Amino acid sequence: MAGSDALVAAARAARAHAVATFSGFKVGAALETADGTIVTGCNVENASYGLTICAERVAIFKALSEGHRQFTRLAVVADTASPTPPCGACRQIIWEFCGDVPVVMANLTAVTATLQMKDLLPLPFDRRLL
Ligand code: THU
Repeated sequence: MAGSDALVAAARAARAHAVATFSGFKVGAALETADGTIVTGCNVENASYGLTICAERVAIFKALSEGHRQFTRLAVVADTASPTPPCGACRQIIWEFCGDVPVVMANLTAVTATLQMKDLLPLPFDRRLL
């Protein structure tokens, strides 16, 4: 398992690749897999706005597409004093593919919060309800 610092450092590095053309709000994410691999993502915006994809979902979909299925932690980095938590859409995807992982929120210099997914998404809709 990579140290928290390595995971947050990877999310900070991924943030540098953010395509935040319209909002200017750059986000980086880093997902730790069960075998210790770190898969990163950044937000990608486009002129339709609505097709924007958040850093968290980019990291998760990259990891899934590379064959990873078990995840242990997720880090999210933005240049903000307060924590930047995952949006609602991302919470659903994180819950379904990562389960009750800790989400480490950080800025460029410090970790600002760490919350479990079960606390970020209480009473989730998932396959158990189908
Ligand atoms: N964004 C993320 O990538 N992750 C978050 O956790 C919050 C929001 C992105 C989406 C959009 O490109 C920009 O930040 C502003 O909402």
